[in-house]
Amino acid sequence: MNTLSARAPLRAAAKLQYLHLAVRTYSGVAATTFNPTCGASKRTSSLSLTSKRPISSTPQNQIEDYFPAPKTPNVKEVKTAWVHPVYTEQQMRDIRIAHRQAANWSDWIALGTVRFFRWGMDTVTGYKHPKPGQELPARFIMTERKWLNRFIFLESVAGVPGMVGGMLRHLRSLRKMKRDNGWIETLLEEAYNERMHLLTFMNIAEPGWFMRLMVLGAQGVFFNGFFLAYLASPRICHRFVGYLEEEAVITYTRAIAEVEKGKLPEWNDLYAPEIAIKYWRMPEGKRKMRDLLLYVRADEAKHREVNHTLANLKQNLDPNPYQIEYIDPTIKHPTKSIDNLRPEGWDRKEIYSIEATQAKS
Ligand SMILES: [Fe+2]
Ligand SMILES: [Fe+2]
Repeated sequence: MNTLSARAPLRAAAKLQYLHLAVRTYSGVAATTFNPTCGASKRTSSLSLTSKRPISSTPQNQIEDYFPAPKTPNVKEVKTAWVHPVYTEQQMRDIRIAHRQAANWSDWIALGTVRFFRWGMDTVTGYKHPKPGQELPARFIMTERKWLNRFIFLESVAGVPGMVGGMLRHLRSLRKMKRDNGWIETLLEEAYNERMHLLTFMNIAEPGWFMRLMVLGAQGVFFNGFFLAYLASPRICHRFVGYLEEEAVITYTRAIAEVEKGKLPEWNDLYAPEIAIKYWRMPEGKRKMRDLLLYVRADEAKHREVNHTLANLKQNLDPNPYQIEYIDPTIKHPTKSIDNLRPEGWDRKEIYSIEATQAKS
C-alpha cells in the first residue's frame, strides 16, 4: 500500500512528521518529508557519504546501506543456501504480461480474490493504470517515491505465502511422517526471494513508522488469512499467488516502461544497492535501477509460473517438478530457468504430474 501517497482517509489522518521517508538518490541521500496535501516532497537535509562498496563500477557517492549486515569480528560474509540463478538481459526482456484463464470454480475464487484485493489497494492508495494511449490525471502520476512505497508494501506482503505454504507442508511432513516430495524448498526459496526484493528496496528508501504500521497490520491479517486458507485449500492458495504474481508483473512492467521513457529522472543514474548486485550477480554496466527492476520482474514472472504450475498438481501426491530428476532425461519438465514463462507451459501437467509418470511406466 502506498501509505505516503494515500488519499483520504489514510493520508489525511497522518501528521506531516509521521510521513517520513528517506530516499536514496544518485548524489547521496535526502531525508524527505512529504506534503500530503499536494503530494509534493520537500528535502530537509542532505548527507554526504563515503562509499565502502567493494564493487568497482559503483560511483564514489554511493551511500552505505540503511540496513548493513551486523559487524561481527572475523566474519567476512554470511552466505546464502539459495544462490539466485543468473538471468540474461534477453531472457528478462522476453518476459511478457500474461494471464492464465480461470478454468473452474476454484480458479475463479482465486482470481476474484486477487481482483478484489487489487481494486481495494488501488482505491485506497489512489493508483491507476493508464489506459492505452491516454494520459493519467496529475494526481495519479507515479513518482519515484510513490513507486518505492508501493514496492516496499507489496514485497512485505509477497514474502508471506511461500513461508506459510512451506511451513505448513513442513509441519505436515513431521506430523504425518511422510515425504513432502520437494515442495517445501521451492516455497521457502520463494519467500526468501521476496524478502530479498524487500531488503533491496529498503536499501533505497527507508520507510517511516506509518508505513511500518501498515506493514505490521497487513502482515497480521494476511498471514493469518493465508494460513487458514492454505489449510483449507492449498490448490486455491497457489492459484491465488499465481494470479497475484500476474499483477506484480503488470506493475513492474509499467515501472520499467516509465524509467525507460524518462518519467522517473531520479532513477536514471541511480545504482542498485550492493545487496542486489550480489544477490542477482548483476554484471558490470547493468547495475542501475532499470536493470534492478528487470531482475525483480523476472522473479515475479517465475513465481507466477511456479504457483500456477503447483496449483495444477495433486497437492499431496505429485512431486515438485522444479526439484526432481527424471529417470528419462528427455521428459520435459519445469526448471528454475525463466525460459518457460507462458501460460501454455504452466498447464502442461500431463507431462510431469504423478498420473503421467505412472501412465508412462
Ligand atoms: Fe517480489
Ligand atoms: Fe512475487
